[in-house]
Amino acid sequence: MCGIVGYVGPRPVLDVLVPGLTHLEYRGYDSAGVALNVGDRIEVIKTAGRMSDLEDLIGYFEGDVISGVGHTRWATHGAPNSVNAHPHTDASGDAVVVHNGIVENWSELKQKLIESGHEFRSQTDTEVVAHMIGDLADLPLVEAVRQVMNEAEGALALAVMRRSEPELIVGARRGSPLVVGRGDGENFLASDIPAFLEHTREMVVIDDNRVIEVRPTSIRLMDLEGNEIEPEHRKVEWDFEAAEKGGYDTFMLKEIYEQPKAIADTLAGRVSQSGRVVLNELEMDDRLLRAIDKVFVIACGTSYHAAMMAKYAIERWTRLPVEIDIASEFRYRDPVLDSRSLVIAISQSGETIDTLEAARYAKAQGANLIGVSNVVDSALAREADAVLYTRAGPEIGVAATKTFTTQLVAMQLLGLYLAQVRGTLDPGAIEVMVRDLTLLPGQVEEVLEISDEIRRLTGQWSDVNDYFFLGRSGDFPVAMEGALKLKEIAYVRAEGYAAGEMKHGPIALIEKGVVVVGVATDSHVKTKTLSNMQEMKARDGTIVLIAENGDDVGDVADHVIKVPEGRDLLCTVTAVVPLQLLAYHVATAKGLDVDKPRNLAKTVTVE
Ligand code: M6R
Repeated sequence: MCGIVGYVGPRPVLDVLVPGLTHLEYRGYDSAGVALNVGDRIEVIKTAGRMSDLEDLIGYFEGDVISGVGHTRWATHGAPNSVNAHPHTDASGDAVVVHNGIVENWSELKQKLIESGHEFRSQTDTEVVAHMIGDLADLPLVEAVRQVMNEAEGALALAVMRRSEPELIVGARRGSPLVVGRGDGENFLASDIPAFLEHTREMVVIDDNRVIEVRPTSIRLMDLEGNEIEPEHRKVEWDFEAAEKGGYDTFMLKEIYEQPKAIADTLAGRVSQSGRVVLNELEMDDRLLRAIDKVFVIACGTSYHAAMMAKYAIERWTRLPVEIDIASEFRYRDPVLDSRSLVIAISQSGETIDTLEAARYAKAQGANLIGVSNVVDSALAREADAVLYTRAGPEIGVAATKTFTTQLVAMQLLGLYLAQVRGTLDPGAIEVMVRDLTLLPGQVEEVLEISDEIRRLTGQWSDVNDYFFLGRSGDFPVAMEGALKLKEIAYVRAEGYAAGEMKHGPIALIEKGVVVVGVATDSHVKTKTLSNMQEMKARDGTIVLIAENGDDVGDVADHVIKVPEGRDLLCTVTAVVPLQLLAYHVATAKGLDVDKPRNLAKTVTVE
């Protein structure tokens, strides 16, 4: 997830680009840059770090600028340094590109370009686009961009400039957001409305698979076949803060709704048409992965719940023994590690000190370390022998939502990959699961539609202070995560428990007024979970059940929340979404600030 701004018009261009990018920093903040068309050349200024670092460099720039594009980056390919920062230019420096999204077939395109003599400076997928545009210098810019859009696969929002056409920016959109702000004798192009809201409230919506020419006094929209399309004009009614949140009341809600896209990004380029998992980026020798005889997964908080799911997935699919540890406990139990151990450390931020120290300890014992992180080049990523990025984009809300579901998907990919390399699942079984993984974005979309139903349900619980979340097998980590979400943002006591364990003690706490949420999607144990829920009902608990469409759950629940039918373990991704919404609605009904819950920090860098 990155932020794009473009401007053509009479204002000092940097006075538009810099504040515009600053307003988009919530979309990415590991590096930033601008390209300025000064007529006889394009000047590129870029740096690692935040907008304030870029502003320091821009301070040295002098000259009359005709148009410009800028970018604030959230790295997906290549470390967040000044070389990988956008904008990227073609070989001549005459064409310049900023990009938000992932070019899925970039390595194939790059190979072709290298064979035809192109030299690459960065490790990004975006530079491929710049070289392709450079090769099409004979075509009008809009045609060149259209051609690139037809060749590049994946999510692309582009803003492209050419030195020879200084009063023109060409935008393109597929899968990543891009809008035009319409001014009087000036126009803006941006990933999101806050970038231009202080200048205009008039906007043009750009649908997917569109290319747009933006000049000071005109815009021209077309589809990928080159047919002209009538632009749809809208007026922005939001204020600044609402616009930053994309019209949602909170970042947390926005991030919950971003999950279909985030999951699609996690999968992008990692599953093949033929149903294989493609994790070339891991750069871990297959022989080494075949020699592993034990796996450890370590993490904290929400990431630990992803680790719990990973244990089920890796054991089920590879038959390797897996131990999971809360990272802050790992070092102190003297785990038995050696060069045949694979340690997977999961951390959204990649900076959580408990996880980092545990990972360092594992490496020092000779274990092989895979880091699973959302932040490119994080401390964990640098420490690890190999990294798998979750690609959820920046998460501003303290409560993890999209970073959790993408961790689940990343771990499912990793589990299947290990099974593929070690030959423990036959290719047909992997193919079926890969296909089902690709259904997840759409299934999560479906679940999001029941938000109002959940709000109405939780509206009856203003006096409830005791919640239990129960599940077995793959449903257990989901239950744990549901309880954690509620605790951290609604400040109510919520226990996540293995449903079958309740009868060994905690059932004593169940009485009238206690809400018990059961998760029953894992086919191995569904009926057992339902029996456990009957036991809660018999003690007068209020029963809510998360079950799959098509399942007959009898009369055990006071309320049933249905999620799409899915494969075991993959279903964790859809089953947790109603629980995120449940926590959200309980907390907001109490008037709490869900984005910044009390006593918490987004990243915990103390032991
Ligand atoms: O960045 P990490 O994934 O390492 O963070 C771990 C936990 O601090 C984090 O998941 C925390 O539990 C979240 N606030 C949960 O919503």
